Amino acid sequence: MLADIIRMFKKKNGYVSGEDMSRALGITRAGIWKRIEELRSKGYKIQASTAKGYRLVKSPEFSMEELEMIVQGDIGREIIFFESIGSTNTAALELAEKGAPHGTVVIADRQAKGKGRLGRTWVSPPRSNIYMSVILRPEIETEDATLLTIMAAVSCAKGVMKSTGLKAEIKWPNDLMISSKKLGGILTEMKSDPDGIVFAVIGIGINVNSKTKKDFPPDIRGIATSIREELGKIQSRTFIIAEILKELEHWYRVLLTGGRKPLFDEWKRLSSTLGRKVKVTAGDNVFTGVAEDIDKGGMLILRLPSGMLKKISSGDVTMLR
Ligand code: BTN
Repeated sequence: MLADIIRMFKKKNGYVSGEDMSRALGITRAGIWKRIEELRSKGYKIQASTAKGYRLVKSPEFSMEELEMIVQGDIGREIIFFESIGSTNTAALELAEKGAPHGTVVIADRQAKGKGRLGRTWVSPPRSNIYMSVILRPEIETEDATLLTIMAAVSCAKGVMKSTGLKAEIKWPNDLMISSKKLGGILTEMKSDPDGIVFAVIGIGINVNSKTKKDFPPDIRGIATSIREELGKIQSRTFIIAEILKELEHWYRVLLTGGRKPLFDEWKRLSSTLGRKVKVTAGDNVFTGVAEDIDKGGMLILRLPSGMLKKISSGDVTMLR
């Protein structure tokens, strides 16, 4: 019902009379007024005029109603929203365990226990950034799971670029970067059995409206950025999420039908790592060399100063020049 009202506003792009609304939706004028108040409480700015009716002045920065209106594909057919949750990944893993279908998306306004890569904490200030997990049920071998993260990184970078115009890059293994600062990251968790992957949860964290100086702890302030910081004004999470889900829909299909080549080619085009001199910290080991390529399992291929090649499965990359 709220979505119907928003749709009427968008179609008319001006005042819609209470009478027209009540006729179209089959409810009383008082019922319309109640829904308008509900929309206002969700952050919609709606002007009312006794003579002309109601006019939508501004949508909130995030709106589930609008998101559901835009998203058309399998991924995002079901979107579950939490104002506050420990971790959207943990919630999605539980839902998947209970049978939630492929494409179910979990979004939260804040996370109390956001999880990052390598057991780290993902700082998740309230109502500002994207905290989203997508349940996939791909028919692929467990050893090919990295493809899902690669697919997600490509989708996020493209989604951010299309919705904001910013040049997003991917730093191996799956950091989203803008101007050499971290904009977001991806954490893939999954359940598999001897037949392959039962389900995978792709966790996506993207700094949209946080002010890094205020919202982030000192150790990550200098190395993190947000879309707001890059563009100088608050951005709509709705449209960025919608664009990412659209890209996920596309690249997931590419992965299943076109195979890995087009996906890897796109990852390489978006990579800020390949061809650069880098330092890779992998546990207690530190390697320096030129990032030459990624192999078909997503491992980084590093050319060491000796000329030898070294494959690295996980770690943190620092660009040296
Ligand atoms: C990284 O360390 O770069 C990966 C960060 C992934 C964070 C996201 S936020 C949504 C989802 N839920 C979590 O607890 N983590 C992921």
